[in-house]
This record gives sequence, C-alpha cells and structure tokens, in this order.
Amino acid sequence: MDSTSPAHIILIGFMGSGKSSVARMLAAKTGLRLLETDELVVHEAGCCVADIFAKEGEDGFRSRERAVLKALSSQEQSVVSCGGGVVVRAQNRSLLAELGTIVYLEVSAEESLARVGQDDNRPLLRGSITPHQLLEQRRGWYEEIADIRVDTSAKGVAQVADEVYQRLSELKVI
Ligand code: S3P
Repeated sequence: MDSTSPAHIILIGFMGSGKSSVARMLAAKTGLRLLETDELVVHEAGCCVADIFAKEGEDGFRSRERAVLKALSSQEQSVVSCGGGVVVRAQNRSLLAELGTIVYLEVSAEESLARVGQDDNRPLLRGSITPHQLLEQRRGWYEEIADIRVDTSAKGVAQVADEVYQRLSELKVI
C-alpha cells in the first residue's frame, strides 16, 4: 500500500465465508462506504452473475472483475467485499495488496456449502471440480495476501465482524 492509495478494508474468502454480511456490519461500525465487487460487475454487465458465466465463461467474468478492482484505486475509502474467486488471477492478488488491508475470512468447504447451498450466482459450485478441491486450489492464494485472518467456523456474523473490527483497530487501520 502506498501513501496515495485509498486504504480500503478488503474482505476475501471462499463462497459462504460471510464476506458480504460481515462487510455490511463493518461499514456500519466504521461509517465507511460498502462496495461489493459482484454487484459492481453485475451493474457494469447489465446482467446477473449466472448469465455472465453462461455467455462469457469464467474468463469473461474474471476480466470484468479485474476492471472493477482497477477502478477501486480512485474510489473513496470503503469496505470492499470481493467475490470468492478474485484471488485466482495473480495480477489481482498484487493489485489487492496495493489497495488496502486484506481480511481473509476462513471457512471449510463443508460449512460453505451448508451456508450457501445451491445458488444461481455461484455457478462454480456446480462445476466439475468439487467445492473442497476449489478451496484447496485457492487457499494458498488467500493466505498469501491476507493481512488479517479470521476463522469463521461456528461463529455468527456479529462475532466475526467484532473480531475483524478488533484486529483492524490493533493494526491502527481504523
Ligand atoms: C465466485 C464467487 C461468487 C461470485 C461468482 C464466482 C468464485 O461470489 O463472484 O459466482 O469464483 O468463488 P461470492 O464469494 O460472494 O459467493
């Protein structure tokens, strides 16, 4: 992060790790604006995540996601909830590290599935690779860029948000 960066608070983690809900609580606690990369992608594309995957494939979705990340550098300081696959591209990982403090919400594949189940906006949960394999593929990437890691297993959203808030205060981010 350099001195000109907006120092966002960026939530990453697997699908169902609670990024959106925790981000909403953190935004309320800090008074910062809330941004969701999925929402921004959908807004730009003019259609839902499932349709983007169907029409443009995962690669098309990732390119749209990258464009949204790039635009974050000119946005006011915000709490940013990222789609679970944002770490797949190496370029995104380095960009995210420049954009602010990265909070990794950890979840097991089993708990992720129990929380989100089958969802049209998560087409990768129905792909040829299992959620467990997908998480194993990504775990190292989440860990690589995380400034803060919080295990969310068996915890409610408010408890996770409190823990993240505490850790951010200790790091003097807020
Ligand atoms: C994805 C996660 C989804 C969404 C898209 C791809 C992924 O977001 O961006 O379905 O590759 O893990 P959530 O993590 O908010 O579910």
